[in-house]
Amino acid sequence: MKWTVASDIDGTLVGDRESLDQLADRLRRMRTEGDLYLILSTGRRLEQVISGIAEEGLPEPDAVVCQVGTEIYQAPFLEDSAPMEAWRDALLRQYSRTEAVSFLDGIEGLLMQPDIYNTELKTSCYLDQCPDPEAAASEIRRRVEQRGQAYQVIWSSGRDLDILPADSGKGKAIRFLINHEGLEPEHVVVAGDTGNDRAMFEEFSRGIIVANAKPELLQWASEATNDSIYRAERPFAAGVEEGLEFFSVLDGSASTS
Ligand code: GLC
Repeated sequence: MKWTVASDIDGTLVGDRESLDQLADRLRRMRTEGDLYLILSTGRRLEQVISGIAEEGLPEPDAVVCQVGTEIYQAPFLEDSAPMEAWRDALLRQYSRTEAVSFLDGIEGLLMQPDIYNTELKTSCYLDQCPDPEAAASEIRRRVEQRGQAYQVIWSSGRDLDILPADSGKGKAIRFLINHEGLEPEHVVVAGDTGNDRAMFEEFSRGIIVANAKPELLQWASEATNDSIYRAERPFAAGVEEGLEFFSVLDGSASTS
């Protein structure tokens, strides 16, 4: 049986190199045997994923979902690879960056994220210098909701706020890929640690939350009706490995190589 594993990178796979090396070995073997379609699903840009594969021990994936689900790339991954056009075009039709930026007007203490994280489909800022970051996030969410259905707000780590097209995000981007590749949606397992991973847990029934997850994700999970979320006891890649064993994606025997 072929599984699709879609994992966040920072704070999920990356955080403890030794456990990542062990998990990456097992995932590489599964891919070689044709038993795994691996997706890295991240807020990073593509070149930061490529350098992560070269330098941080990330396993080579089949596809990469970047910039919080607003860009999708398929192998081979080159610094100047273009994102999948069908996904980009569909999202561009519903998103006005000028309007997205206007929702941030006058929020005291707000700082825009660096230009590389602000794209035609993603408007991102930091709220951790605001007098009350949670209240600032709620105010932005209120403004966006008042406008209607075109945008969504993603709030992560008590710091990062993204305004994205409503039909984007990590979960919907993975769903698009699954359909495109003709993969089985019932055989998808997702893994993450922060608020921007929530969309993956909402879209697919099997999910792994690593032990070091941020409060906003744990809070959501404690209220969620999705009962196939596995709360790992171990942090980072060790937690992902534990969850993949729980879902019988990896067999229970320890890695030997
Ligand atoms: C990643 C992205 C950043 C985003 C955050 C939360 O850190 O680089 O732009 O705000 O994820 O989604």
